[in-house]
Amino acid sequence: MKISVIGCGYLGAVHAAGLASVGHEVVGIDVDAARVAVLSTGRAPFFEPGLDDLLAEGLASGRLSFSTDPADAADAVVHFIAVGTPQSAYGGGADLRYLDAAVEGLLPHLSADALIAGKSTVPVGTAERIAERLEQAGVRTIVAWNPEFLREGFAIEDTLRPDRLVYGVEAGPRGERAVELLDEVYRTVLDLDTPRLVTSRETAELVKVSANAFLATKISFINAISEVAEAAGADVTAIADAIGFDARIGRRFLNAGVGFGGGCLPKDIRAFRARADELGVGASLAFLGEVDSINLRQRDRVARAVVDALGGDPTGRRVAILGLAFKPNSDDIRDSPALDIALRLQSQGATVVATDPQAVENARRVDPDLQFAATAEDAIAGSDVTVLLTEWQQFRDLDPASIVGLPSSPYMIDGRNVLDPFAWREAGWIYRSLGRP
Ligand code: UDX
Repeated sequence: MKISVIGCGYLGAVHAAGLASVGHEVVGIDVDAARVAVLSTGRAPFFEPGLDDLLAEGLASGRLSFSTDPADAADAVVHFIAVGTPQSAYGGGADLRYLDAAVEGLLPHLSADALIAGKSTVPVGTAERIAERLEQAGVRTIVAWNPEFLREGFAIEDTLRPDRLVYGVEAGPRGERAVELLDEVYRTVLDLDTPRLVTSRETAELVKVSANAFLATKISFINAISEVAEAAGADVTAIADAIGFDARIGRRFLNAGVGFGGGCLPKDIRAFRARADELGVGASLAFLGEVDSINLRQRDRVARAVVDALGGDPTGRRVAILGLAFKPNSDDIRDSPALDIALRLQSQGATVVATDPQAVENARRVDPDLQFAATAEDAIAGSDVTVLLTEWQQFRDLDPASIVGLPSSPYMIDGRNVLDPFAWREAGWIYRSLGRP
């Protein structure tokens, strides 16, 4: 099939390359000429395992191309919209300006038998609004919402083998046509017996934000328990293990620590609340405000633990920060708890030396004054306190005994609860974590 993907960020670039890899002819459109130029050479403009290979393969096959000109999308039968929907500068709501611009850019190139399939996370009602805009412009193109659940770091796997497909379509023959077209797009995914849910557009829009709100709530739940566990001298990781055996609860997303960040969960829960307010049901999602506060409090907890470790005054003291990305296997620093904590400590006068296997260049752009080290060992050398904030495998694998001589003071604050307290203490470190004695 001829397919266009509008917006080539974390979501769109992977979607475009993934669809080309299963045989479709795909053009990725983005307003950012530099991004299009990099993608056109078969390189990902961000770190995502496996994406470079998939892009190179797609370009070599002749089925994948990138362009800044929406006119190049004109002969596509399905147009996926994958632009960013960041938090608005004026409050918690979503900023839909890129989405609206994508639709306006496509308008002159849309044919009556084509389908627009939205993938971006949007406030409920957005698909309907786009459909009205097309109608007003006299364009007959069908509009569906087909939310995307991919996780950074596993984006290719999640794209080619998702847990489920959700098609939000209008009622009647136009909706049926949308289902037919999406089935053709996802034939290889459906062949894997992937569950496919056909819903209304509003339901599909809400599926996505509900999923992210649930995940955020799960993380904040365990972080709230970790605060209580810490006050009571109990162990939150053992609590998570024990409750996680209950299949109704499940162990995944119960890792207490510095909390969630990234380009999705934080802004999505805020936008969801803002939309519920607009719909007159703000009280229903008021708890997401608490989820947000618990999450942000984790950053305070860690920053406070560092200051405590330094005897109350961080001025001029050297703090080693292990991790800057919002999670491992990513170079994404959007709303990263790790970077936030590093910047807070720096603003309190500490000399922060940070390291991350992938995110240093992005962090340097945010704050060129942070000091960066190439490896964990280099960051730790001479430090007064070390803080693990992103659980990259190489940090988890650090051997406490062989590096205990490197810092000025062997003090480890484990912001992700991933190190073995006994091994670190045995090796001579003072070890502190969140919610473990
Ligand atoms: C998330 C959703 O998982 C995905 O389905 C959606 O499409 C986009 O948003 P992503 O932002 O890539 O994906 O990251 P995810 O793996 O969900 O992690 C989100 C944050 O939660 C990270 O900062 C991570 O460190 C944190 N987290 C996750 C925890 O603090 N504890 C956990 O137990 C799990």
